[in-house]
Amino acid sequence: MDKSYYETEDIRIYNENIFITESIVDDSIDLIITSPPFDIDIKYDSHDDNMDYSKYLFLCENWLSCFHKWLKEDGRFCLNIPLEKNNNGKQSVGADLTAIAKKTGFKYHSTIILQEGDIPKNKAVPVMDISAPRIISPVELIVVLYKEKWKKSGKGCSDISEEEFNEWTNGIWSFPEEVNRKTAHPVSFSMELPYRCIKLFSFTDDLILDPFMGSGTTLLAARHLGRKAIGIEIDEEYCKLAVERLNEKAV
Ligand SMILES: C[S@@+](CC[C@H](N)C(=O)[O-])C[C@H]1O[C@@H](n2cnc3c(N)ncnc32)[C@H](O)[C@@H]1O
Repeated sequence: MDKSYYETEDIRIYNENIFITESIVDDSIDLIITSPPFDIDIKYDSHDDNMDYSKYLFLCENWLSCFHKWLKEDGRFCLNIPLEKNNNGKQSVGADLTAIAKKTGFKYHSTIILQEGDIPKNKAVPVMDISAPRIISPVELIVVLYKEKWKKSGKGCSDISEEEFNEWTNGIWSFPEEVNRKTAHPVSFSMELPYRCIKLFSFTDDLILDPFMGSGTTLLAARHLGRKAIGIEIDEEYCKLAVERLNEKAV
């Protein structure tokens, strides 16, 4: 029995929990692009986003192990996370998750810095306390990891221009604010993020996965770029939203 929530020739969505899904075949995915919950008290319907930091890291280690299994030998992984978080004590999320990813078997390639622009700004007025100055770093990261081999096997086709390649291999990215950004999901990322990652890190016949699919932004970018893609999302409302967005683009 097919358990997919939505399926077309190029896109499949599973309304499932990544910890128990059996829908992804081991060693089958070329590129994972995802933004996991950040544990910053976002009000999701089906996920507690304000857990103890050690429990959060324990769960991260579990899903990182799943993702490692699902990737092909030359598979790549673009992990969008904050540099740090400030609620319930300051934590070095970027450094901690990178270390755990390496522990679960991933190899490290690089980190792209996403600069403020599309990232929610810190609106608090700074308090001038010389005895304990607070540093706010309004950036996110895309940690670029891979399973075994960074150089891709085979002779795939690429659709990236020389200009895009030269610009995007410089690891500081800033995106303009998106005018038509959907708001029904609390934290969808900019379309530009998966768009660049797909063009830069995959060939045209590669299979892309977003295991924390949310409103389906990665799938929209994949379809636009003619790639096949799979999304997994625990919340049915967000699956519905992703399908609506995909159908809108199909018109
Ligand atoms: C940061 S959001 C992703 C947003 C997405 N990049 C977008 O553009 O809409 C993380 C998503 O992971 C989902 N999620 C959390 N735990 C999950 C789990 N165990 N299995 C599948 N999805 C999960 C949440 O419901 C949420 O929609």
